[in-house]
Amino acid sequence: MSSTRSAPDVAVVGGGLIGLVTAWRAAQHGLRTAVVDPSPGGGAAHVAAGMLAPVTELHHGEERLLALNLASLARYPSFVEELEEASGQRVGHRTEGTLAVAFDADDRAQLRELHALHLRCGLDSEWLGARETRRLEPMLAPSVRGALRAGGDHQVDPRLLGAALVSACTRAGVALHRTTAVGLRSSAGRAHGLDLADGTRLDAGRTVLAAGCRSGELAGLPPEAAPPVRPVKGQVLRLRMPEAGGPFLTRTVRAVVHGHTVYLVPRRSGELVVGATSEETGWETSVTAGGVYELLRNAHVLVPGVTELPLVETLAGLRPASPDNAPLLGDSPLPGLLHATGHHRNGVLLTPVTGDAMGTLLATGELPPEAQGFAPDRFAGSR
Ligand code: GLY
Repeated sequence: MSSTRSAPDVAVVGGGLIGLVTAWRAAQHGLRTAVVDPSPGGGAAHVAAGMLAPVTELHHGEERLLALNLASLARYPSFVEELEEASGQRVGHRTEGTLAVAFDADDRAQLRELHALHLRCGLDSEWLGARETRRLEPMLAPSVRGALRAGGDHQVDPRLLGAALVSACTRAGVALHRTTAVGLRSSAGRAHGLDLADGTRLDAGRTVLAAGCRSGELAGLPPEAAPPVRPVKGQVLRLRMPEAGGPFLTRTVRAVVHGHTVYLVPRRSGELVVGATSEETGWETSVTAGGVYELLRNAHVLVPGVTELPLVETLAGLRPASPDNAPLLGDSPLPGLLHATGHHRNGVLLTPVTGDAMGTLLATGELPPEAQGFAPDRFAGSR
């Protein structure tokens, strides 16, 4: 194995959004930083719709995660401005808000309950009647009964975000190793870098595991330092909206149809993202007839005109889920090894706050207060 001539202070395993933002912030703190990924900017970000939706994606029992989600959402405008300036690239940030729609008495009751939770949590969430809902989005089905409007739930294009982070990292001096990390190097109870598939030995002062749902799979990880993350598959469709005749949709619309969540995320480019299944089927990423059928059937209930649109792409990706659906941010039980993984449904939303938290930790040794409840040691003893 050849060893790198000047060892980085920080080696990051995984060049998805979380690995890249961690590396960018670390480099801004003056740390020599490297990222290892065969295709940086890809991974789950290539599949994700990019909703920044702490309000309409709120689940009972996730109130602690909500605080982190809201902290990250609040940082998005300045994060986007800084990243677009640093990279010279746009990231497709849209701020028109989100509608969560009801079709029948059951949906209405469910949404009313969600609205009550929003109000208890002090969130920006407004109940709209059927007429007002269809005035905002005329392509919605005539049978719509009403909706919750979350004006603060926005979106970004994760593919553009990934490309911008690659560019910002490169400009900040981050070394990108376009290969796979095949093993963690450790001795005397401390991590000190990685072995790479191209034969490089990458010595590093600190190593950050940010490989999404594969973060626990790296060879050489002691069992107590392997993050408890698992893959949750999501199938996603991309359609093309017509250029003429006014906007097909202006904002994200979502609903629960036949017990399954469906969302439609319209981009300014004309792309319409329809997502997503949620499947505990291990590592496989096949697009299935059943998955496509479920998404199109439910999208058609929400917006009947959707079946007229060209279907451009079908994809499946793997969310990195943790036991409590919240991320693992901070030091692992193995000195020199840190975790930045387990973001499950919220990787795009949590990108700014994760970058800030990991950058601060790497530079100062301290996690900032908003991230302290998410340290990996909360799962100690449950492995
Ligand atoms: N946050 C959207 C999803 O996980 O499907």
